[in-house]
Amino acid sequence: MIKFATIGTHWITKQFIEAAQQVGWQLTAVYSRQQASAQKFADQFIGPIKTFTELDEFLASQDFSVVYLASPNSLHFEQSQQALLAGKHVIVEKPACSNPTEMKQIIKILRQHPELYYFEAARHFHEPLFQQVKQAIKQLSVIQGAHLTYEKYSSRYDAFLAGQEPNIFSLEFSGGALQDLGVYLVYAAIAWFGYPQSADYRPQKLRNGIDGRGIAILEYPRFQVILKFGKTTNSYLASEIYGLKQTLILDSPAKLNELKMADEQGNVQSLARTTTENPMLAEVKDFDQLLNKPASLIAKQKMEDWLALAVQVNQLMYQLRQSAELSFPADEKYI
Ligand SMILES: NC(=O)c1ccc[n+]([C@@H]2O[C@H](COP(=O)([O-])OP(=O)(O)OC[C@H]3O[C@@H](n4cnc5c(N)ncnc54)[C@H](OP(=O)(O)O)[C@@H]3O)[C@@H](O)[C@H]2O)c1
Repeated sequence: MIKFATIGTHWITKQFIEAAQQVGWQLTAVYSRQQASAQKFADQFIGPIKTFTELDEFLASQDFSVVYLASPNSLHFEQSQQALLAGKHVIVEKPACSNPTEMKQIIKILRQHPELYYFEAARHFHEPLFQQVKQAIKQLSVIQGAHLTYEKYSSRYDAFLAGQEPNIFSLEFSGGALQDLGVYLVYAAIAWFGYPQSADYRPQKLRNGIDGRGIAILEYPRFQVILKFGKTTNSYLASEIYGLKQTLILDSPAKLNELKMADEQGNVQSLARTTTENPMLAEVKDFDQLLNKPASLIAKQKMEDWLALAVQVNQLMYQLRQSAELSFPADEKYI
């Protein structure tokens, strides 16, 4: 049985734990900066669960082999690095790293420790519907482009408007629309169409320079993929992938409910639907398969394939930020 521990005590960690418990994983430890919040968080689950407020002590614990990490974005790199060096497998929330410098350092550690597994928790990529979209794209006689979208008003935007700076709207914490919701679309674009030959990001920046929403244009040799994402508005537009006379339609690569196909007359038929309630279950099942056979060459290769995609996503996100003159303090930290 996989024993795991968590960093971060917000709702996403709870959702991950519930998915992990569904596949039989045992939560044995919780880290929080405050003892009271660690205890309050741990009390929601059936124990015994140890609580920690010191990261070194937490990572030195022999009670678990896997750490799930859902802290603010800019902390992902250092905490992942520390966890790997302590001999733990790491599942880190998206975006795994703030920039390619950090990502290279993680890869270096992984090369020195081939026994360790490291996963970016790009939950949508693991959903069956994500792969079904990929298959449906392959069936198109031609691809003429795509418009992928995910815009949702953030529960933290009211606080930002009131003069505060929540982590997700902060440069210091490597936040912003691209890092938070855009990453889902970047994943989809690379997984479905490959790495673009050029990329340009046009953000709407907020008062502190962070991107609240924006549009990215990815140029491929024969078509364009437009990404539209944001955290300051709600959008109800669908995402579309254009064939010749057929169009694939889905809500969003990040919210995979249903894949539909419209024919040249505009008749729409449903191709596939998502059935699971917990959107993190598919990724946990995938991680479970690999972590249960850590020495298997097939498992290792699968992790390497996902890692190669995560590296490309990290590279393209950085390229997009550079095109928009959007830099983070984290970009200067390890140069
Ligand atoms: N896959 C998904 O569907 C999904 C959905 C939402 C979020 N996420 C990802 O999950 C991660 C966390 O997002 P979130 O919205 O939960 O972030 P958050 O609320 O800003 O922070 C998450 C946790 O980190 C700790 N924390 C907060 N501020 C901190 C600080 N200044 N220094 C150190 N630790 C701090 C807190 O835990 P303690 O107070 O207990 O230390 C908090 O519970 C992000 O990377 C995000 O992209 C993924």
